[in-house]
Amino acid sequence: MQEMVTESEIRDALTAVIDPELHRSIVELDMVREVKIGGNGVIDVTVSLTTAGCPIRGHFQKSVAEAVSALDGVAHVNVYFDVLDDAQKAALRQKLQRGSLPEGELAQVGSVLCIGSGKGGVGKSTLTANLAAALAAQGKRVGVLDADVWGYSIPRMYGLGAQRPPVSAARKIVPLQAQGVKVMSIGFFVEEDAAVVWRGPMLHKALTQFLQDVEWGPLDHLLIDLPPGTGDVSMTLAQLLPQSQFVIVTTPQPTAQKVARRSAEMARKLSLEIAGVIENMSGFTTPSGERFQIFGEGGGQSLADELDVPLLAKVPLTMPLREHADSGVPLVIEDPDDPAAQAIAHAARGLIAMTPATASAPSLPMLNVTEHAPAPAAVAAKPAGMSLPMA
Ligand SMILES: Nc1ncnc2c1ncn2[C@@H]1O[C@H](COP(=O)(O)OP(=O)(O)OP(=O)(O)O)[C@@H](O)[C@H]1O
Ligand SMILES: [Mg+2]
Repeated sequence: MQEMVTESEIRDALTAVIDPELHRSIVELDMVREVKIGGNGVIDVTVSLTTAGCPIRGHFQKSVAEAVSALDGVAHVNVYFDVLDDAQKAALRQKLQRGSLPEGELAQVGSVLCIGSGKGGVGKSTLTANLAAALAAQGKRVGVLDADVWGYSIPRMYGLGAQRPPVSAARKIVPLQAQGVKVMSIGFFVEEDAAVVWRGPMLHKALTQFLQDVEWGPLDHLLIDLPPGTGDVSMTLAQLLPQSQFVIVTTPQPTAQKVARRSAEMARKLSLEIAGVIENMSGFTTPSGERFQIFGEGGGQSLADELDVPLLAKVPLTMPLREHADSGVPLVIEDPDDPAAQAIAHAARGLIAMTPATASAPSLPMLNVTEHAPAPAAVAAKPAGMSLPMA
């Protein structure tokens, strides 16, 4: 008969489970409340969270189950959660040697979705603007962060060209609003068409400010429009928001998938989850409803199958989608019956269905403020670029 696994072996295995927010193992953080070893190798582990609506609950669920299942003599792992009481939180703060647990404006955001693709021009920004408007139209509280600091296009898509966001009394930037969506973009702070050079520390600082110093308020979804490719911005965001998920945009032809796969690989490397794939420019639908497969067929589905994630939508090429992006009111608002608008609304419903209800429960701060922040820009060689206009 097989040896029974011991509690100390299980606790040992749990040292592999790291709190992405606090960068320490849940054992070291005294978050393993209880380990029960049942008959037939069934193990119950209870993990204490800092708050009930903790958005990284899924991460703990998965990592605890993985770590414990790997032990000999374990047949099944049940992961349960409870919440640290005030005294335990105080002890945790003591342990972390800081006055308070990290807090950011994003503490109140339910889900973060990064819209990415390996290459440019596949419709990331158009889909981001329309998806956000569709989510808002379905009653969700939504924000859009335009993280394409070089090629920002979100302001134009919401008709927010010439405005500048106000700064609140608390010295936070107040996002502009359009179609019920809170919008933030570097485009609000630079002269039109001005070339802005963003490099390492400056870029990091600007993105951090967008996440920390913007008064997002409670949101169900924050959509982040990524620049093309798999560069610095994605890396920085992944570091700041370890629980964000990726939505990969591809076009239908096989060569495009290869490129899109690269961003999927990057997401995996950064341990970010992939929520799904959207195939864009999926055939052309004429105003009379006739369909032509201009860019071929099937690419979105085969990428989704390969990544083992859902295909959230196939969005056809339609002239109105482009025209409305240019005119500043998303198509899903102006003409929800357009085939592209319908496909995007379908994707929005899919994303809602996949997102655990956040209710109004305050959640663990999302912002992953490291104790070892990068050297301040003043110490490093001063990069060309600009800072956002606040404290
Ligand atoms: N399904 C579609 N039907 C018609 N036009 C589309 C569709 N999707 C995108 N477009 C148009 O294609 C162009 C590129 O789209 P968009 O700017 O959204 O792509 P992107 O991936 O964000 O590009 P970049 O990588 O430069 O940020 C835009 O003019 C947009 O209006
Ligand atoms: Mg774009």
